Amino acid sequence: MNRIPIWMDCDTGTDDSVALMLAHALPELDLQGISTVCGNTIQDNAFWNTHRINGLMGTSYPVYRGAEQPLMKPLVTAAHVHGENGLGDVELPVPEGAVIHEEPAWDAIYACAKRFPGELRLIATGPLTNVATAFIKYPDLPGLLHSLSVMGGSAGPGNDTPAAEFNFFVDPHAAELVMHSGVKLVMCGLDVTLQAYFSVEQLDELAASGTRAGWFTKACNMRAWKILSRFGMPGFCMHDSCPVMYVAHPELFEGEMAGVVVETRGTVANGKSVTDLYSDKQFPFKNAFVVLKVDREKFIAILRDCILSIG
Ligand code: BDR
Ligand code: CA
Repeated sequence: MNRIPIWMDCDTGTDDSVALMLAHALPELDLQGISTVCGNTIQDNAFWNTHRINGLMGTSYPVYRGAEQPLMKPLVTAAHVHGENGLGDVELPVPEGAVIHEEPAWDAIYACAKRFPGELRLIATGPLTNVATAFIKYPDLPGLLHSLSVMGGSAGPGNDTPAAEFNFFVDPHAAELVMHSGVKLVMCGLDVTLQAYFSVEQLDELAASGTRAGWFTKACNMRAWKILSRFGMPGFCMHDSCPVMYVAHPELFEGEMAGVVVETRGTVANGKSVTDLYSDKQFPFKNAFVVLKVDREKFIAILRDCILSIG
């Protein structure tokens, strides 16, 4: 099988960690490297957490540091959901001998795209600061990539504010720049990611499997669950696994091409992804494939098997 080259850009992060496990374990994918961005937690945590996940998986994917701050806004993190350390306050060791790469995220992404012209799928599961910075520095990068799959935005309501989804709220300027970069864009927003959840029983089963990866998947989510269960959520959303799964298994998803613009100047709607999906008024462009539906059972079955395969 010809494996698909991918690059992960993450604000690691509890569900980012699970997405990394999926990116590693899906046999269709060939993970080339990982870059880290501030978002759920500060850059330093995201960077070392990614090494910690390498340790958990027994892998040594190269990890590159990216942005410490959003392009134009002060950083807002999500410690209330992802814990002070970004991993739901679960302690994992940094693996011995973790290699520190000095090359910044944007240079590493570009170098990888040059190695796989037209083939590399860039997958972003945090604010789009690193991706936007790479696109500014390397204007040919959007055309060099096969595509960019993001977790971010929402055609409906938000989760960080009534209007905005967290990743786009943290760096709306980056999201808006990326929207109009010309890259082939797949947007996995809350519309689909809220359907992609583990039930409480399914997480219990993972934890009872006796595997470290299964244990961690439950443990890192327990802090968030105390908050999210109060809002009537049916389970633990694996937001960031959606764009990864989409690359390997697009047949599990449904969506539509749409015009999408990110609000950067508003106050109540700051960071809102405005789409023309449900409006008679259309933007004069269709710049993103907005994913709206997933076959949850198949999605969860594949994700569970991948986590368990890590051991
Ligand atoms: C997104 O926000 C973050 O907290 C998650 O990691 C995910 O990327 C969901 O809105
Ligand atoms: Ca994330």
